[in-house]
Amino acid sequence: MMKIVIITVSDSCSEGKREDTSGPLIKQIIEGMGKVIEYEIVADEKASISQAIKEAADELKADLVLTTGGTGLSLRDVTPEATREVVEKKIPGFAELMRQKSFEITPTAILSRAIAGIRGKSLVINLPGSPKAVKECLDIILPLVPHALDMIKGKGHENSAGYLQ
Ligand code: MTE
Repeated sequence: MMKIVIITVSDSCSEGKREDTSGPLIKQIIEGMGKVIEYEIVADEKASISQAIKEAADELKADLVLTTGGTGLSLRDVTPEATREVVEKKIPGFAELMRQKSFEITPTAILSRAIAGIRGKSLVINLPGSPKAVKECLDIILPLVPHALDMIKGKGHENSAGYLQ
């Protein structure tokens, strides 16, 4: 069973000024694929975001860590920088595909600076913040996640028939 951690990155949600709808939406979309073992909301602070990712990977041993928000261009958007600091390897393809496919639906999707990478045996993926973006991006990347996790865990290609088309 895939263990999933969801981290919503938002100043206003972390201060209780706005209700988080993107985190719960991720939970709803992904629930059939695994178990959400933790869902938390952190402010747009690099240290808080990095810490939340580290805890998810190192202590909770999450297979998949999904962040939402803070990937854009405003001063407080630092999720990619925080993620870059704690992943050991980057996986450019996830973000490349998200931007490329999302562009066909929403041209401003190229403004997301989201990245993805590996920490330990955890796959970490940044998603943009809006519920619309979350849904579009998950539709694009989720089919690729099981095979990515198999590779991260060293299972090789023997189980790949279901994922690769
Ligand atoms: N990606 C998809 N698929 N759909 C979207 O509507 N919105 C974009 C982009 N990515 C969007 C998207 C917009 S308008 C912005 S500003 C960036 O994500 C950054 O969003 P964030 O700062 O909330 O992470």
